[in-house]
Amino acid sequence: MILGNSALDINVHDTYFVVGHFHIVMGLSAIFGMFAGVYHWFPKLFGRMMNNKLGTVHFWITIICAYGVFFPMHFLGFAGVPRRYYTNSEFPLFENMININEIISMFAIMAMIAQLIFFFNFVYSAFRGPRAPMNPWKANTLEWTAPVEHFHGNWYGEIPHVYRWPYDYSKVDANGEYVSGEDFIPQTTPLAEGEKDGGH
Ligand code: HEM
Ligand code: HEM
Repeated sequence: MILGNSALDINVHDTYFVVGHFHIVMGLSAIFGMFAGVYHWFPKLFGRMMNNKLGTVHFWITIICAYGVFFPMHFLGFAGVPRRYYTNSEFPLFENMININEIISMFAIMAMIAQLIFFFNFVYSAFRGPRAPMNPWKANTLEWTAPVEHFHGNWYGEIPHVYRWPYDYSKVDANGEYVSGEDFIPQTTPLAEGEKDGGH
C-alpha cells in the first residue's frame, strides 16, 4: 500500500523507489508463483519428483538475490535517483550511489547463475527423478486422481464425480477423529452420511 500514501509518493514518484517497490510486489510474486507451479505440478507432468535439496538451495539463493536486487533500489530512490534514465553513471549527482548499482548487478548475476540449479533439477528429474506416487502432496483436487499417462480424456472409464469442495483438510468428526482417516479428503470421495460439504 506504500505508494498509495501520497505524502510519501509525491517525493518518491518517478524514482527508483517505485521500481524497487513494484518489482517486489509484482515481479517477485509472479516469478515465485511460476516456480511454485512448476515444482508442484512437475510430478503430474513427468511422473517423477524434482530433487528437494536442489529445490531448497535454488529457492534460498533466488529469494536472497532477488531482494538483493530490488531492496537497495528503494534507497536509490530515496536518494533521488530517477527511473527511466539511459545511464546512471553520467551524472555527478548519482556518483555516490554507483556502488549500490554494482551490488545490485552482482546480486542479479548470482540470481541468474542460481537458475542453472533449477534447469539442471528440471531436466535431470524429468529423466532420472524418483517415480512420483499418484498424489505426492496429499492434495484434494481432481488432477491428482488422474494417472500420469498421456492419453485422450485424462481418466480411464467414467469421468470422476466431484462431491466436495477442494479444501477438505483436517476435517474432524464429533469425536475429533479425521473423517477419512487422513488429513485430506479428495474431491472424489462421497460425503459420509450426515457430513456437510465445507463449500456450502
Ligand atoms: C493497495 C495496493 C496498491 C496500491 C495502493 C498501489 C499504489 C501505487 C501507486 C500510487 C503507484 C504510483 C507510484 C509512482 O509512480 O509514484 C503505483 C505504481 C505501480 N504499481 Fe501499485 N499499488 C498497489 C498494488 C499493486 C499491485 C498488487 C501491483 C502488481 C501486482 C502493483 C503494480 C504497480 C506497478 C507496476 C507500478 C508502476 C507503474 C509504472 O509507472 O510503470 N501495484 N502503485
Ligand atoms: C530479473 C528480473 C528483473 C530485473 C533485473 C528487472 C529490472 C528492471 C529495471 C532496472 C527497471 C527500471 C528501468 C528504468 O527505470 O530505467 C525495470 C522496469 C520495469 N520492470 Fe523489471 N526487472 C525484472 C523483472 C520484471 C518482472 C518479472 C516484471 C513484471 C512482472 C517487471 C516489470 C517491469 C515494469 C512494468 C517496468 C517499468 C518499465 C518502464 O519504466 O517503462 N520486471 N525492470
